[in-house]
Amino acid sequence: MAETVKIHYEGKVVELPVILGSEGEKGIDIRELRKLTGYITFDPGLANSGSCKSNITFMDGERGILRYRGVPVEQLAEQSTFVETAYLLINGELPKREQLLNFSTLLTEQSLVHEDMQLFFQNYPPRSHPMQILSSMVSTLRSFYPDLKTSKEDEEINITLTRIISKVRTMAAMSYKISRGHKVVYPKPELCYCSNFLRMMFDNPVKPYFIDPDLVKALNVFWILHADHEQNCSTSAVRMVGSGRVTIYAAISAGIAALWGPLHGGANQAVIEMLEKIHAGGGKIKSFIDRAKDKNDPFRLMGFGHRVYKTYDPRARIMKKMCHKLLEKRSEKDPMLDIAMELEALALEDPYFVDHNLYPNVDFYSGIVLRTIGIPTNMFTVMFAIGRMPGWISQWKEDADDPNWRIYRPRQIYTGSRQRDYVPINQR
Ligand code: ACO
Repeated sequence: MAETVKIHYEGKVVELPVILGSEGEKGIDIRELRKLTGYITFDPGLANSGSCKSNITFMDGERGILRYRGVPVEQLAEQSTFVETAYLLINGELPKREQLLNFSTLLTEQSLVHEDMQLFFQNYPPRSHPMQILSSMVSTLRSFYPDLKTSKEDEEINITLTRIISKVRTMAAMSYKISRGHKVVYPKPELCYCSNFLRMMFDNPVKPYFIDPDLVKALNVFWILHADHEQNCSTSAVRMVGSGRVTIYAAISAGIAALWGPLHGGANQAVIEMLEKIHAGGGKIKSFIDRAKDKNDPFRLMGFGHRVYKTYDPRARIMKKMCHKLLEKRSEKDPMLDIAMELEALALEDPYFVDHNLYPNVDFYSGIVLRTIGIPTNMFTVMFAIGRMPGWISQWKEDADDPNWRIYRPRQIYTGSRQRDYVPINQR
């Protein structure tokens, strides 16, 4: 017999069905709750609320598991590429050789952006943050390229989705070049997605860029690890904005805006800035840990803690290994890595962090990887956003294809004034 949950209220009982996920997760289906009882649930931050059923990404925060379409992220980081992982996320299966080739070809065909878009980049004030520019420019894509029609032909969907993944990368590099007053570098069709990005970022007419395969691998891993993470803040923003049936460009643009926050994707920039501050202050790591524990101080240890992971974030483990590998091979030392490792060791044996289950998250080591690649600090979160495109697109598509799709419209518990009369201004 199907499991149910009984809720007792006002001397009555209501029985609600239980929904079972494929990994044994259980949820109480409260869709009829208000109609049957007049009650709603209260869950600020939505830590206990499932907003959708999804077959894209599975994570288990207690055991530190992350899988895309069932495939462990560790295996993808080791053996896959970002483009192949993007295909897996969007289409649900790993591609056959020909499918991967077609997908890569489509990405290449879509990699140029309309020449007029360069004018927008040139006119942003020089101190604009790259995340703000990216969010606006993705929304602006709708003015240059058609939106998905209601007919939703497969070919049209594929072109639109690959257009976003491909052009976002071109726009990020273009924006960087223009911000430095340099000539824009166009993508080369014979290069793969990651190599092309590195070349578009760092090649210049007087100093041709040598594409280092180690950096290409590092970038693939970085983007694979960021490709999806189920219903986090920015993905929920994509789904919520998308649920009003806006264009996909506007929904993704909302995701970028949400990701920007320092408690979310902006943490990778905040981590490096924190490590640099520790370094500049003579390496007083303990004082930062003390501040993070002080309830009267709003400071938090950036790159630590996660809503879902109550153990080591599996992505952080891979990222940490990647840092060591990259830096060892380059026989360079980055003092930030030493500070990060000491900070991690001190925090992990501190009762406050142990009791609160606070472990390094993906952002803790990712900034050091990005620094080694040569990415400027203010572009770290843009790098995260490029990686998250396949995830946002898959999640948007899952909603769009769902016959039970409803506009997101949460309820509230109103705590304001009861009805009162309007008082004319001269009587107040
Ligand atoms: N440093 C110090 N204390 C922390 C930290 C931290 N980084 N993170 C959480 N805590 C403490 C809180 O003060 C709170 O303590 P209390 O219960 O004694 O009051 C407790 O842990 C729970 O914190 P919440 O804010 O309720 O946890 P929540 O799940 O809402 O937040 C978050 C998760 C936002 C990631 C939080 O851990 C944080 O701010 N971390 C730092 C920013 C960061 O690294 N963000 C990146 C997350 S990964 C990503 O989005 C890609």
